[in-house]
Amino acid sequence: MFKTPLCDLFGIEYPIILGGMLWVGKADLTAAVSEAGGLGIMGAGGMRIDEIESEIAMIKEKTQKPFGVNIPLVRPDSEEMINTCIENGASIITTSSGSPKKFTRMIQGRGCRVIHVIANVKFAKKSEEAGVDAVAAEGYEAGGHNGHDEITTMALIPQVSSAVHIPVIAAGGISDGNGLVAALALGAQGVQMGTRFLATHESAAHEKYKHAVIQMADDETSVTGRTTIGPTRAIKNKLTDMIVDAEKGGATPEELFELIGEGRSIKACIEGDCEEGSMYCGQIGGHIKDLKSAKQVVEDVMTEAKSAITSLQAYL
Ligand SMILES: Cc1cc2nc3c(=O)[nH]c(=O)nc-3n(C[C@H](O)[C@H](O)[C@H](O)COP(=O)(O)O)c2cc1C
Repeated sequence: MFKTPLCDLFGIEYPIILGGMLWVGKADLTAAVSEAGGLGIMGAGGMRIDEIESEIAMIKEKTQKPFGVNIPLVRPDSEEMINTCIENGASIITTSSGSPKKFTRMIQGRGCRVIHVIANVKFAKKSEEAGVDAVAAEGYEAGGHNGHDEITTMALIPQVSSAVHIPVIAAGGISDGNGLVAALALGAQGVQMGTRFLATHESAAHEKYKHAVIQMADDETSVTGRTTIGPTRAIKNKLTDMIVDAEKGGATPEELFELIGEGRSIKACIEGDCEEGSMYCGQIGGHIKDLKSAKQVVEDVMTEAKSAITSLQAYL
Protein backbone atom coordinates (compact mmCIF):
# COMPACT_ATOMS: atom_id res chain seq x y z
CA MET A 1 0.00 0.00 0.00
CA PHE A 2 1.16 3.54 -0.83
CA LYS A 3 3.96 2.20 -3.02
CA THR A 4 4.13 5.08 -5.48
CA PRO A 5 6.43 5.30 -8.54
CA LEU A 6 8.70 7.46 -6.35
CA CYS A 7 9.47 4.37 -4.25
CA ASP A 8 10.70 2.51 -7.34
CA LEU A 9 12.69 5.54 -8.50
CA PHE A 10 14.69 5.64 -5.26
CA GLY A 11 14.54 1.93 -4.36
CA ILE A 12 12.65 2.54 -1.11
CA GLU A 13 9.70 0.80 0.55
CA TYR A 14 7.62 3.78 1.71
CA PRO A 15 7.17 7.25 0.17
CA ILE A 16 8.57 8.96 3.26
CA ILE A 17 11.65 11.16 3.00
CA LEU A 18 13.74 12.70 5.73
CA GLY A 19 14.27 16.34 4.70
CA GLY A 20 17.90 17.45 4.84
CA MET A 21 18.46 19.39 8.06
CA LEU A 22 21.78 21.03 8.76
CA TRP A 23 23.12 20.26 12.28
CA VAL A 24 20.11 17.97 12.94
CA GLY A 25 20.05 15.24 10.30
CA LYS A 26 23.37 13.46 10.61
CA ALA A 27 24.39 9.80 10.22
CA ASP A 28 22.18 8.30 12.96
CA LEU A 29 18.94 9.86 11.76
CA THR A 30 19.70 9.36 8.07
CA ALA A 31 20.52 5.68 8.53
CA ALA A 32 17.51 5.11 10.82
CA VAL A 33 15.04 6.52 8.27
CA SER A 34 16.54 4.53 5.39
CA GLU A 35 16.70 1.37 7.49
CA ALA A 36 13.00 1.83 8.36
CA GLY A 37 12.10 1.79 4.67
CA GLY A 38 11.98 5.54 3.98
CA LEU A 39 14.68 7.65 2.36
CA GLY A 40 17.22 9.18 4.73
CA ILE A 41 18.71 12.42 3.46
CA MET A 42 21.61 13.77 5.48
CA GLY A 43 21.79 17.55 5.96
CA ALA A 44 25.34 18.43 4.95
CA GLY A 45 24.88 22.21 4.93
CA GLY A 46 27.00 22.76 8.06
CA MET A 47 29.59 20.03 7.45
CA ARG A 48 33.20 20.19 6.30
CA ILE A 49 34.26 17.77 3.57
CA ASP A 50 35.99 15.44 6.03
CA GLU A 51 32.87 15.42 8.23
CA ILE A 52 30.74 14.45 5.23
CA GLU A 53 33.10 11.54 4.60
CA SER A 54 33.02 10.31 8.18
CA GLU A 55 29.24 10.72 8.55
CA ILE A 56 28.66 8.77 5.33
CA ALA A 57 30.97 6.03 6.59
CA MET A 58 28.79 5.83 9.73
CA ILE A 59 25.60 5.67 7.64
CA LYS A 60 27.02 2.75 5.68
CA GLU A 61 27.89 0.92 8.90
CA LYS A 62 24.22 1.15 9.95
CA THR A 63 22.38 0.47 6.71
CA GLN A 64 22.86 -1.04 3.28
CA LYS A 65 19.76 0.74 1.97
CA PRO A 66 19.77 3.82 -0.29
CA PHE A 67 20.41 7.21 1.30
CA GLY A 68 20.97 10.71 0.07
CA VAL A 69 22.62 13.97 1.05
CA ASN A 70 21.29 17.53 0.91
CA ILE A 71 23.68 20.09 -0.55
CA PRO A 72 22.68 23.77 -0.29
CA LEU A 73 24.10 25.23 -3.50
CA VAL A 74 24.95 28.51 -1.75
CA ARG A 75 27.97 26.72 -0.30
CA PRO A 76 31.00 27.82 -2.39
CA ASP A 77 32.39 24.28 -2.22
CA SER A 78 29.12 22.62 -3.27
CA GLU A 79 30.71 20.83 -6.25
CA GLU A 80 33.36 19.28 -4.02
CA MET A 81 30.65 18.34 -1.52
CA ILE A 82 28.64 16.62 -4.25
CA ASN A 83 31.68 14.73 -5.53
CA THR A 84 32.51 13.59 -2.01
CA CYS A 85 28.97 12.29 -1.47
CA ILE A 86 28.91 10.39 -4.75
CA GLU A 87 32.39 8.91 -4.29
CA ASN A 88 31.41 7.73 -0.83
CA GLY A 89 28.18 6.01 -1.86
CA ALA A 90 25.20 8.40 -1.71
CA SER A 91 22.73 7.49 -4.42
CA ILE A 92 20.52 10.59 -4.21
CA ILE A 93 21.52 14.24 -4.00
CA THR A 94 19.00 16.84 -2.90
CA THR A 95 19.97 20.29 -4.04
CA SER A 96 18.49 23.46 -2.58
CA SER A 97 19.09 27.24 -2.53
CA GLY A 98 20.44 27.60 -6.05
CA SER A 99 19.97 26.72 -9.72
CA PRO A 100 19.20 23.06 -10.48
CA LYS A 101 20.93 23.52 -13.87
CA LYS A 102 24.37 23.70 -12.35
CA PHE A 103 25.03 20.10 -11.30
CA THR A 104 22.05 17.93 -12.29
CA ARG A 105 23.54 16.35 -15.43
CA MET A 106 26.91 15.82 -13.75
CA ILE A 107 25.25 14.05 -10.79
CA GLN A 108 23.06 11.88 -13.01
CA GLY A 109 26.01 11.09 -15.26
CA ARG A 110 27.62 9.50 -12.22
CA GLY A 111 24.63 7.27 -11.60
CA CYS A 112 22.78 9.24 -8.92
CA ARG A 113 19.31 10.74 -8.73
CA VAL A 114 18.61 14.44 -8.12
CA ILE A 115 15.81 16.01 -6.09
CA HIS A 116 15.60 19.80 -6.19
CA VAL A 117 13.74 21.76 -3.50
CA ILE A 118 11.36 24.43 -4.83
CA ALA A 119 8.64 26.66 -3.41
CA ASN A 120 6.69 27.77 -6.49
CA VAL A 121 5.53 26.55 -9.91
CA LYS A 122 8.10 28.63 -11.83
CA PHE A 123 11.04 26.89 -10.16
CA ALA A 124 9.35 23.49 -10.40
CA LYS A 125 9.23 23.95 -14.19
CA LYS A 126 12.85 25.18 -14.32
CA SER A 127 13.89 22.11 -12.33
CA GLU A 128 12.05 19.82 -14.72
CA GLU A 129 13.76 21.56 -17.66
CA ALA A 130 17.10 21.05 -15.95
CA GLY A 131 16.32 17.32 -15.88
CA VAL A 132 15.98 16.65 -12.14
CA ASP A 133 14.36 13.33 -11.18
CA ALA A 134 11.87 14.82 -8.70
CA VAL A 135 11.03 18.09 -6.98
CA ALA A 136 10.43 18.54 -3.28
CA ALA A 137 7.73 21.24 -3.20
CA GLU A 138 8.02 22.97 0.14
CA GLY A 139 5.20 25.09 1.56
CA TYR A 140 5.49 28.15 3.74
CA GLU A 141 4.63 26.27 6.93
CA ALA A 142 7.91 24.34 6.75
CA GLY A 143 10.73 24.69 9.23
CA GLY A 144 13.91 26.47 8.14
CA HIS A 145 14.14 28.53 4.95
CA ASN A 146 10.82 29.32 3.25
CA GLY A 147 9.94 30.58 -0.21
CA HIS A 148 9.57 34.34 -0.71
CA ASP A 149 6.09 33.87 -2.21
CA GLU A 150 4.70 32.41 1.03
CA ILE A 151 2.73 29.68 -0.77
CA THR A 152 1.38 27.07 1.63
CA THR A 153 1.67 23.32 1.00
CA MET A 154 -2.10 22.97 0.46
CA ALA A 155 -2.01 25.47 -2.42
CA LEU A 156 1.46 24.57 -3.75
CA ILE A 157 1.20 20.80 -4.25
CA PRO A 158 -1.79 20.70 -6.64
CA GLN A 159 -0.36 23.54 -8.72
CA VAL A 160 3.12 22.05 -8.97
CA SER A 161 1.67 18.58 -9.62
CA SER A 162 -0.35 19.94 -12.54
CA ALA A 163 2.58 21.90 -13.94
CA VAL A 164 5.27 19.20 -14.13
CA HIS A 165 5.47 15.56 -15.22
CA ILE A 166 8.19 14.47 -12.80
CA PRO A 167 7.31 13.14 -9.31
CA VAL A 168 6.43 15.75 -6.69
CA ILE A 169 7.34 15.28 -3.04
CA ALA A 170 5.21 17.35 -0.63
CA ALA A 171 7.09 19.13 2.15
CA GLY A 172 5.90 21.45 4.89
CA GLY A 173 3.33 20.80 7.58
CA ILE A 174 3.31 16.98 7.36
CA SER A 175 3.94 14.89 10.46
CA ASP A 176 1.65 11.86 10.26
CA GLY A 177 -0.28 9.45 8.08
CA ASN A 178 -3.18 11.86 7.59
CA GLY A 179 -0.70 14.30 6.10
CA LEU A 180 0.66 11.59 3.80
CA VAL A 181 -2.83 10.74 2.53
CA ALA A 182 -3.63 14.44 2.03
CA ALA A 183 -0.39 14.98 0.11
CA LEU A 184 -1.05 11.99 -2.15
CA ALA A 185 -4.61 13.24 -2.76
CA LEU A 186 -3.19 16.62 -3.82
CA GLY A 187 -0.99 14.98 -6.44
CA ALA A 188 2.29 14.27 -4.64
CA GLN A 189 3.99 10.88 -4.80
CA GLY A 190 5.56 11.12 -1.39
CA VAL A 191 6.25 13.36 1.59
CA GLN A 192 9.35 15.01 2.98
CA MET A 193 9.28 15.65 6.73
CA GLY A 194 11.71 17.74 8.71
CA THR A 195 10.12 18.88 11.97
CA ARG A 196 8.67 15.40 12.78
CA PHE A 197 12.11 13.82 12.39
CA LEU A 198 13.73 16.64 14.38
CA ALA A 199 11.79 15.33 17.40
CA THR A 200 13.25 11.82 17.31
CA HIS A 201 15.81 10.03 19.45
CA GLU A 202 18.27 9.85 16.55
CA SER A 203 18.17 13.53 15.61
CA ALA A 204 21.38 15.38 16.48
CA ALA A 205 19.48 18.35 17.95
CA HIS A 206 20.09 19.11 21.63
CA GLU A 207 17.52 17.44 23.93
CA LYS A 208 16.28 20.88 25.07
CA TYR A 209 15.59 21.84 21.45
CA LYS A 210 13.68 18.58 20.86
CA HIS A 211 11.62 19.23 23.99
CA ALA A 212 10.88 22.78 22.82
CA VAL A 213 9.33 21.20 19.70
CA ILE A 214 7.08 18.78 21.57
CA GLN A 215 5.98 21.51 23.99
CA MET A 216 5.23 24.26 21.46
CA ALA A 217 1.78 25.33 20.26
CA ASP A 218 0.60 25.95 16.70
CA ASP A 219 1.21 29.72 16.89
CA GLU A 220 4.71 29.53 18.31
CA THR A 221 6.85 29.83 15.20
CA SER A 222 8.07 33.09 13.77
CA VAL A 223 9.35 33.98 10.30
CA THR A 224 12.31 36.36 10.24
CA GLY A 225 15.14 37.16 7.84
CA ARG A 226 13.00 38.39 4.92
CA THR A 227 15.43 41.21 4.13
CA THR A 228 18.64 39.29 4.72
CA ILE A 229 18.94 35.51 4.42
CA GLY A 230 15.34 35.11 3.19
CA PRO A 231 12.27 34.07 5.20
CA THR A 232 13.25 31.53 7.84
CA ARG A 233 10.87 29.77 10.23
CA ALA A 234 11.93 28.98 13.79
CA ILE A 235 10.39 28.56 17.23
CA LYS A 236 9.61 31.93 18.83
CA ASN A 237 12.09 32.81 21.57
CA LYS A 238 14.16 35.72 22.83
CA LEU A 239 16.27 35.59 19.64
CA THR A 240 13.32 35.80 17.22
CA ASP A 241 11.92 38.72 19.28
CA MET A 242 15.31 40.45 19.02
CA ILE A 243 15.40 39.90 15.24
CA VAL A 244 11.82 41.16 14.80
CA ASP A 245 12.65 44.28 16.85
CA ALA A 246 15.86 44.86 14.88
CA GLU A 247 14.05 44.42 11.55
CA LYS A 248 11.31 46.85 12.60
CA GLY A 249 13.88 49.28 13.97
CA GLY A 250 15.71 49.52 10.64
CA ALA A 251 18.87 47.65 11.69
CA THR A 252 21.63 47.45 9.08
CA PRO A 253 22.23 44.13 7.26
CA GLU A 254 25.48 43.77 9.28
CA GLU A 255 23.56 44.13 12.55
CA LEU A 256 20.97 41.64 11.38
CA PHE A 257 23.58 39.11 10.24
CA GLU A 258 25.00 39.31 13.75
CA LEU A 259 21.66 37.93 14.99
CA ILE A 260 21.02 35.31 12.33
CA GLY A 261 24.43 33.86 11.51
CA GLU A 262 25.18 30.16 11.57
CA GLY A 263 26.47 30.45 15.13
CA ARG A 264 22.87 30.89 16.29
CA SER A 265 21.88 27.45 14.99
CA ILE A 266 24.91 25.91 16.68
CA LYS A 267 23.90 27.64 19.92
CA ALA A 268 20.49 25.92 19.93
CA CYS A 269 21.39 22.64 18.31
CA ILE A 270 24.64 21.83 20.05
CA GLU A 271 24.68 24.00 23.19
CA GLY A 272 20.94 23.70 23.91
CA ASP A 273 20.47 27.47 24.28
CA CYS A 274 16.76 27.73 23.52
CA GLU A 275 16.60 31.46 24.24
CA GLU A 276 19.37 32.99 22.16
CA GLY A 277 19.85 30.11 19.72
CA SER A 278 17.94 29.64 16.49
CA MET A 279 15.54 26.66 16.55
CA TYR A 280 14.39 26.05 12.97
CA CYS A 281 11.00 24.37 13.18
CA GLY A 282 7.78 24.12 11.17
CA GLN A 283 4.26 25.08 12.18
CA ILE A 284 3.37 21.39 12.48
CA GLY A 285 5.53 21.30 15.62
CA GLY A 286 2.37 22.16 17.56
CA HIS A 287 0.94 18.78 16.50
CA ILE A 288 3.95 16.75 17.63
CA LYS A 289 3.62 15.69 21.24
CA ASP A 290 6.22 12.99 21.75
CA LEU A 291 9.77 11.98 21.01
CA LYS A 292 9.93 8.71 19.09
CA SER A 293 12.49 6.67 17.26
CA ALA A 294 12.70 7.43 13.55
CA LYS A 295 11.61 3.84 12.86
CA GLN A 296 8.48 4.42 14.98
CA VAL A 297 7.73 7.62 13.05
CA VAL A 298 7.90 5.78 9.72
CA GLU A 299 5.80 2.85 11.01
CA ASP A 300 3.20 5.14 12.59
CA VAL A 301 2.85 7.25 9.44
CA MET A 302 2.14 4.12 7.40
CA THR A 303 -0.37 2.73 9.95
CA GLU A 304 -2.14 6.08 10.30
CA ALA A 305 -2.30 6.51 6.52
CA LYS A 306 -4.05 3.14 6.16
CA SER A 307 -6.61 4.00 8.85
CA ALA A 308 -7.13 7.45 7.31
CA ILE A 309 -8.16 5.77 4.06
CA THR A 310 -10.55 3.46 5.94
CA SER A 311 -12.09 6.40 7.83
CA LEU A 312 -12.55 8.38 4.63
CA GLN A 313 -14.45 5.49 3.06
CA ALA A 314 -17.24 6.14 5.59
CA TYR A 315 -18.01 9.33 3.66
CA LEU A 316 -18.41 7.58 0.31
C1 LIG B 1 15.92 22.20 11.77
C2 LIG B 1 15.71 22.26 10.30
C3 LIG B 1 16.80 22.41 9.45
C4 LIG B 1 16.62 22.41 8.07
N1 LIG B 1 17.74 22.50 7.25
C5 LIG B 1 17.58 22.39 5.90
C6 LIG B 1 18.72 22.34 5.05
O1 LIG B 1 19.87 22.38 5.51
N2 LIG B 1 18.51 22.25 3.71
C7 LIG B 1 17.25 22.17 3.16
O2 LIG B 1 17.10 22.06 1.95
N3 LIG B 1 16.15 22.19 3.97
C8 LIG B 1 16.29 22.28 5.30
N4 LIG B 1 15.18 22.22 6.12
C9 LIG B 1 13.86 21.93 5.51
C10 LIG B 1 13.56 20.40 5.56
O3 LIG B 1 14.44 19.68 4.73
C11 LIG B 1 12.11 20.06 5.15
O4 LIG B 1 11.88 20.32 3.79
C12 LIG B 1 11.09 20.81 5.97
O5 LIG B 1 11.42 20.71 7.34
C13 LIG B 1 9.70 20.22 5.75
O6 LIG B 1 8.73 20.92 6.50
P1 LIG B 1 8.32 20.55 8.03
O7 LIG B 1 9.35 21.21 8.87
O8 LIG B 1 6.98 21.14 8.18
O9 LIG B 1 8.34 19.05 8.13
C14 LIG B 1 15.33 22.28 7.51
C15 LIG B 1 14.23 22.15 8.37
C16 LIG B 1 14.41 22.13 9.74
C17 LIG B 1 13.20 21.95 10.64
